[in-house]
Amino acid sequence: MAADLLGEPLALWRGRDGAVRAVSDVCVHRGTALSLGWVDGDEIACAYHGWRYRGDGRCVAIPQLADPSRVPAKAQVPAFRAQERYGLVWVALTAPRWPLPEVPELERGGWVTVTAGPYAWACDAARQVENFTDFGHFPWVHPGLLGDPARPVVPRHEVRTDGHVLRYEIVRPEAPNSDEFPVFGNEQAGPPERRSRYELHLPYTIALRLGWGGERGMVYLFASQPVGTGRCAGYVVIGRNYNLDQDDQVIRDFEDRIFGQDQVVVESQRPDRVPFDLAAELHLKFDAVAVAYRKAMRAHGLAMSNPAP
Ligand code: FES
Ligand SMILES: [Fe+2]
Repeated sequence: MAADLLGEPLALWRGRDGAVRAVSDVCVHRGTALSLGWVDGDEIACAYHGWRYRGDGRCVAIPQLADPSRVPAKAQVPAFRAQERYGLVWVALTAPRWPLPEVPELERGGWVTVTAGPYAWACDAARQVENFTDFGHFPWVHPGLLGDPARPVVPRHEVRTDGHVLRYEIVRPEAPNSDEFPVFGNEQAGPPERRSRYELHLPYTIALRLGWGGERGMVYLFASQPVGTGRCAGYVVIGRNYNLDQDDQVIRDFEDRIFGQDQVVVESQRPDRVPFDLAAELHLKFDAVAVAYRKAMRAHGLAMSNPAP
């Protein structure tokens, strides 16, 4: 299949061992998308003239030659590291700077997982990530689902920055289950109270754990794929250890609704890219996460809206 990452077109396939391969989606011969081709054993064959490539990007057969294996050394395409975890394929275009977030709940017995998305938005991936971290909008954009317009005050929270990971948590009493979406493991007898613990892994991944003080827990893994300039795609993997028999569609419908509400607002934001310069927008105390995020992105050289002069 084809996927774009930071403007780089990728062709992805599984070899016989099931492992994912990722190479540039541009055939070295005539620039055809390799993702249009077919998989042959461990190799991918180009749809146009059938040249075959290995996962390391080497072309290993040119069928038009009398001896198809006499492949010139130049016949290769860039290949990239790919790793499959949590039901997602993660590709690194250069040497990875950090490991993937650890979310053991998603690989543990007793938990069920549901995937939602991808949510393809016409915006910068950092805008999509900031939206996921933004507490002030819940009552306004998601009334009755994640917040209540009668209680718009953002609970106090502090952000701790450990290298490339931001940690913060919040107690949110304002989101009840609804008949339509019985998603959260709230006790309906009293006011539902849920603690949300966030880990934001730079640049675009968030692990969110919801708890109600007891055994029941829910975990959200959110990763925004930076597709290209002004384009991203959000992937959501949700695990829970209660209501194990609930139809996956309940959670998917809930996420589709939430992300749909957010999309309209976020795609309207200007400038298109998050302004990482803190003087550029107005930040109040309850915007602490966005402030910490923008600072950390700059500190790690990831603030692409501020290119070096
Ligand atoms: S364009 Fe790919 S084999 Fe010719
Ligand atoms: Fe939202």
